[in-house]
Amino acid sequence: MGTIQIENVSFKYDQMVDNLFSALNLKIDESWKLGLIGRNGRGKTTLMKMLLGQLQYQGQIVSNLNFYYYPQTVVDKDVPTVEVVKNLAHLEDYDLWKIEIELEKLQVDADVLQQEFSTLSPGERTKVLLAILFIDESGFQLIDEPTNHLDIEGRKIVSDYLKSKKGFIVISHDKSFLNPVIDHVISIDRSDVVVYKGNFDTWQEQKERQDQSELAEKEQLKKDINRLHETAVKRENWSRQTESHKNRKHYTEKVHLDKGFIGTKAAKMMKKAKTAEHRVNSAIDEKKTLLKNIEIEAPIELNYEKLSHPDVFVQVENLTLQHKNIVTPTVDFKVKRDQVVSLIGPNGIGKTTIFKQILGLSQPFEQTGRIHVSNNLKISYLRQDNELQGTIRQLAEQKQIEPELIFSNLRKLGFERALFEQPIEQMSQGQRRKVALAVSLSEEANLYFWDEPLNYLDVITRQQIIEAIKKQHPTMLLIDHDQDLIDSVSSKRIELHK
Ligand SMILES: Nc1ncnc2c1ncn2[C@@H]1O[C@H](COP(=O)(O)OP(=O)(O)OP(=O)(O)O)[C@@H](O)[C@H]1O
Ligand SMILES: [Mg+2]
Repeated sequence: MGTIQIENVSFKYDQMVDNLFSALNLKIDESWKLGLIGRNGRGKTTLMKMLLGQLQYQGQIVSNLNFYYYPQTVVDKDVPTVEVVKNLAHLEDYDLWKIEIELEKLQVDADVLQQEFSTLSPGERTKVLLAILFIDESGFQLIDEPTNHLDIEGRKIVSDYLKSKKGFIVISHDKSFLNPVIDHVISIDRSDVVVYKGNFDTWQEQKERQDQSELAEKEQLKKDINRLHETAVKRENWSRQTESHKNRKHYTEKVHLDKGFIGTKAAKMMKKAKTAEHRVNSAIDEKKTLLKNIEIEAPIELNYEKLSHPDVFVQVENLTLQHKNIVTPTVDFKVKRDQVVSLIGPNGIGKTTIFKQILGLSQPFEQTGRIHVSNNLKISYLRQDNELQGTIRQLAEQKQIEPELIFSNLRKLGFERALFEQPIEQMSQGQRRKVALAVSLSEEANLYFWDEPLNYLDVITRQQIIEAIKKQHPTMLLIDHDQDLIDSVSSKRIELHK
């Protein structure tokens, strides 16, 4: 029987000060169905890349298994899917039946093989790439977050599919997806990597028990951290209020004060507040290292500017969009002030396309029906894809947001300060998502368009977002496949059917 033995492995990326893994020892059996879990940036993807032999590490990994990684890189997407399959799976024409069998299990019509890969919906792409991974029955699959972009039904299908396989590691932050699939858990905690026998629930029970006993010992420490968090949040609110006063036009007009003067004074006070905030954050970090594996995060807040009118922010009347053979279902809805309206529907039905059309972004779609968006709204758009580039400071400048505000939001999302100045392209998927989210949280807005905000995010961050929306109830159009989010925050659901 095959095993993977990880012996005394240490690794860090060049720019890093501390090791990501130090003297790691793990023994994994080839028959296990492993869930690899841990907060964003802990090294889950890195661990897979080490198994694939793509990174240089100290120590050794002993295994005679063939590893396959999802998601594979598709270099040329503008070719029929069958070419992508042949290329990635090294298949000849006479062996194509193998992919057809896997596709059938994933409930994908074999016709997609003739369709250009770039025109497949994200859910279809996921399933095709997964099918490729399982053609070699003797392989050991390393599956990195398959559920992003999958709708609820797709998640169930992939979950059932994986249940029928064995010998793989799957990374996911989706508990209901993982639970039926896995029989072992590798958890990358703050200071250890631990293997548990059981599924996500069993892991959670054990982890809670451990946390409780650690907390009982360190109750005072937790209180200190919470108190520090509160101080940090107060300061943060204060400096934001000062900043928004500075920007408010009537402030200078009515009082006849020199805006420049107020600006300088506020800037000085703000700088002081920032230094203090920095100190508080360092103190929090320091205390957290004493709480070995327990995760605590502060609540987050949207920079939401609540308006008292108009009543209707967005009105969409009998809207249909068409391009070539793609036609979106007709939708008809209003987004009223302080409503969270969720667009629900399967992969590929056109939710993002509708979003973009309402936002007036250029698209090749022909429109029938009417869209009316109220004038002078500040809109914050969180895109579905993780395509940000450059540094956080550059992004802040483009968006004209105080970089410190973005940093402060990132801290609350559990993002390590050491990464603030790093190029976004070098960050983990979840860290990139957090940057995009922190920008949206930081910019002043009356209306939010959030397209799958929870993709790539770890469990704790998801909860923070749900809590923030519940508390502030901003005016928002929302797309997501996370049932928990939709159920907790929606004032209204618009269901899209084929
Ligand atoms: N090419 C790189 N160069 C420098 N640092 C990197 C690089 N890739 C990843 N990192 C850093 O290494 C750490 C681990 O990244 P990794 O992608 O393995 O995390 P992860 O656990 O998969 O996170 P996520 O849940 O967000 O996908 C992160 O802090 C990340 O910023
Ligand atoms: Mg990852």
